[in-house]
Amino acid sequence: MGKILVTGGLGFIGSHTVVELQSSGYDVVIIDDLSNSSIDVLDGISSITGKKPEFVKLDLKDKPKVEDFFKTHSAIKGVIHFAASKAVGESVQEPLKYYENNISTLVYILKELQKLPSASFIFSSSCTVYGQADTLPITENAPVKKAESPYGNTKQIGEEIISDTCNVSKNLKAISLRYFNPIGAHESAKIGELPIGVPQNLVPFITQTAIGIREQLSVFGNDYPTPDGTCIRDYIHVVDLAKAHVIALERLLKNDNKSNYETFNLGTGKGSSVLEVIESFERVSEKKLNYKIVGRREGDIISAYADTKKANEELGWKAQLNLDDALRSAWKWEQTIRE
Ligand code: UD1
Repeated sequence: MGKILVTGGLGFIGSHTVVELQSSGYDVVIIDDLSNSSIDVLDGISSITGKKPEFVKLDLKDKPKVEDFFKTHSAIKGVIHFAASKAVGESVQEPLKYYENNISTLVYILKELQKLPSASFIFSSSCTVYGQADTLPITENAPVKKAESPYGNTKQIGEEIISDTCNVSKNLKAISLRYFNPIGAHESAKIGELPIGVPQNLVPFITQTAIGIREQLSVFGNDYPTPDGTCIRDYIHVVDLAKAHVIALERLLKNDNKSNYETFNLGTGKGSSVLEVIESFERVSEKKLNYKIVGRREGDIISAYADTKKANEELGWKAQLNLDDALRSAWKWEQTIRE
């Protein structure tokens, strides 16, 4: 079947995708610089799949090393590119770190792929490219709005770089997957999200509060124009998301793609408010969550959820798991890592 390179394969979405790739019979090589991940994740992956993926510790900013990697790994048929920095707040403070980490590395990889007879490339993009969309649910045709942060900008620029490259490199096929809000963990609780420091995202903050690491969850605003006043997002189980990567890759490997650059939204299509997420968590964990309503968080959009028609019909992928499933798995993971 050929080898698949997964950059950032020890990260949250990357590790779940490696599991799904291996379970579908692919031979995987992971590149990760361990800057925001742990080498122990490799054991978590192999204890689920029974196969240890090849691992190369490499900083993708090191262009000569990237070139060497591709020289010694000539059998690579596809690349799923997760490796990137992803903290929105940090990106505002250190924009050049984000442009260097997220853009230069993408350019180096694409340069190597241009040299291959044929290559399939999956890019980790985000619904953040839409900003506050004018109409809901959000389709792939919704206009890309000016990015709110350097992080968001790297996703927009990244998509443009890939699209421009596909225009001229006919050997290259690519898909950008625009994720809504990935949450949850593998049902085995052998891999999951490992936020460093204080979590910025809602679900890890909820599970850390419930387990006693954080005292209280702050709900950022209940005066938004939504039914209960809290913001609405489309929370998608990371295992569903991981499966979509395998399907997208196979679309390219089998030449089922309609053009050599495509984009797909990955979400459930269902929006949930912050209070609904808390309710779901309380239901599945049978625990009361300590939370309080505070002021709005700067930069938060009111509501975002996906129109999943294109992914459902063209990609042939649909989310199978719901919010309760995702929170149940996130809670099981939190309890497992604190044992
Ligand atoms: C955030 C990023 C987004 C990124 C995405 C990746 C911001 C402003 N946006 O999106 O660019 O693509 O993560 O996963 O950081 N909430 C609370 N209390 C908390 C944390 C969150 O009430 O302690 C609320 C937020 O206001 C929001 C919802 O929970 O309404 C989800 O927040 P979060 O998990 O941070 O995701 P996004 O803001 O959608």
